[in-house]
Amino acid sequence: MAFLQILFLLCPIFMHFIVPNTAQPEINFHLCVDKNGNYTANSTYQANLNYLLNSVYSNTEIDYGFYNFSYGESSDKVYAIGLCRGDVKPDAYRDCLNYSSQALTFRCPTTKEAIIGLDNCILRYANRNIFGLNEVAPYFFVYSLTNVSDENGFKMSVNSLLDSLHVKAAAGDSRRKYATGKINTRDFQTIYAVSQCTPDLSQTDCSYCLQNASARIGQCCQERQGGRVIYPSCNFRYEINQFYEIPVGEDPSPPPSKGKNNKVIIIILSAVISVIAILIISFYTISRKRKSREEENALARPNMASVAVMLSTYSITLPVPQKPAFFSHTTVLPETTSTLTESDQSRSASVPFSNNEASISELHPR
Ligand SMILES: *[C@@H]1O[C@H](CO)[C@@H](O)[C@H](O)[C@H]1NC(C)=O
Ligand SMILES: *[C@@H]1O[C@H](CO)[C@@H](O)[C@H](O)[C@H]1NC(C)=O
Ligand SMILES: *[C@@H]1O[C@H](CO)[C@@H](O)[C@H](O)[C@H]1NC(C)=O
Ligand SMILES: *[C@@H]1O[C@H](CO)[C@@H](O)[C@H](O)[C@H]1NC(C)=O
Ligand SMILES: *[C@@H]1O[C@H](CO)[C@@H](O)[C@H](O)[C@H]1NC(C)=O
Ligand SMILES: *[C@@H]1O[C@H](CO)[C@@H](O)[C@H](O)[C@H]1NC(C)=O
Repeated sequence: MAFLQILFLLCPIFMHFIVPNTAQPEINFHLCVDKNGNYTANSTYQANLNYLLNSVYSNTEIDYGFYNFSYGESSDKVYAIGLCRGDVKPDAYRDCLNYSSQALTFRCPTTKEAIIGLDNCILRYANRNIFGLNEVAPYFFVYSLTNVSDENGFKMSVNSLLDSLHVKAAAGDSRRKYATGKINTRDFQTIYAVSQCTPDLSQTDCSYCLQNASARIGQCCQERQGGRVIYPSCNFRYEINQFYEIPVGEDPSPPPSKGKNNKVIIIILSAVISVIAILIISFYTISRKRKSREEENALARPNMASVAVMLSTYSITLPVPQKPAFFSHTTVLPETTSTLTESDQSRSASVPFSNNEASISELHPR
């Protein structure tokens, strides 16, 4: 009962810090790749880049969510790839690409090559031809902080689901290499997953890319109830809630089941701990913010990958920390081009302190 009271008292504050940017999509990762050069303000490269990105997100002809556009001449030529999750509707993924373009050029204002990832789309650009290449670095991990109880059973189910989706995705055409599916674990939980390649890959390359990504699952996600491995050329994601839209013609499944009692208690406990931690961080950032008020822009908020970049040998300048959108840890992998991003992502079902109405409302029995 005491927990509930504390939680109830803290909840408005908690909501204040978690929910203010619901309209703004969450940026899962970004990386400014500086080994391929920098451009200067008002250069031809910058003009070409802006023109190119604009031509991607204002394009209304492409309705399959893949863009491989280039613009410019010789050393000022820019190549961009936009890959949207296969089930996302054109209007939504155009918004995602638009937002990603603004965010990425804001966060990486000088590097000629950069990549950003949101739930609905991945956008990258470079001063080299990146079309048709099977690129397995840099890579990013996103996963839930919640572990499953039956690790072995869960692992078997995830692996078998992903194996079958990888085959299906690789067999796609030159517009979409994307597959979705679900499987039941032996303790009757449903796991949902998607696999996707950029459709400019051959079937063999796609299959290789996804297999290579799967081999990394143990580095991030094995016992987690949600996880993603993201390469520039392919990615997969699994969750215990249905996070994608079912393709027309497949059976709709019932909504994910509510947690049992013991889960609710765990959620409450972790939410209380999280709220306290968020408060501490928030007070810290507020007092820092008093000193520098200019960074209201969500695009300016550092995210996990930029923190990782800072910790590694890259030299970039991070904006002043803002209120945390969610909790995360960050680790840097030995390879200089690889960034490991941990977060409570694969958020929606797994994270008690997300803006998930279902889990928040469970905390307030009426
Ligand atoms: C690009 O700029 C960054 C930061 O200013 C610097 O560390 C990096 O060496 C530069 N890259 C090249 C290829 O000059
Ligand atoms: C770039 O152009 C803008 C607008 O014309 C100008 O305000 C800015 O000073 C220029 N920056 C550089 C580095 O030339
Ligand atoms: C891109 O986003 C900006 C800011 O939200 C908006 O003003 C603009 O109309 C958008 N462009 C397109 C083509 O959707
Ligand atoms: C989940 O599992 C990982 C890896 O085994 C471990 O490091 C972590 O502490 C576990 N988290 C919880 C909440 O039990
Ligand atoms: C761009 O992608 C489309 C669709 O996958 C493909 O048919 C085309 O060859 C690609 N263009 C280039 C220049 O790679
Ligand atoms: C994945 O690709 C990288 C780079 O090509 C390679 O070093 C690694 O051995 C591959 N891993 C697997 C499991 O195929």
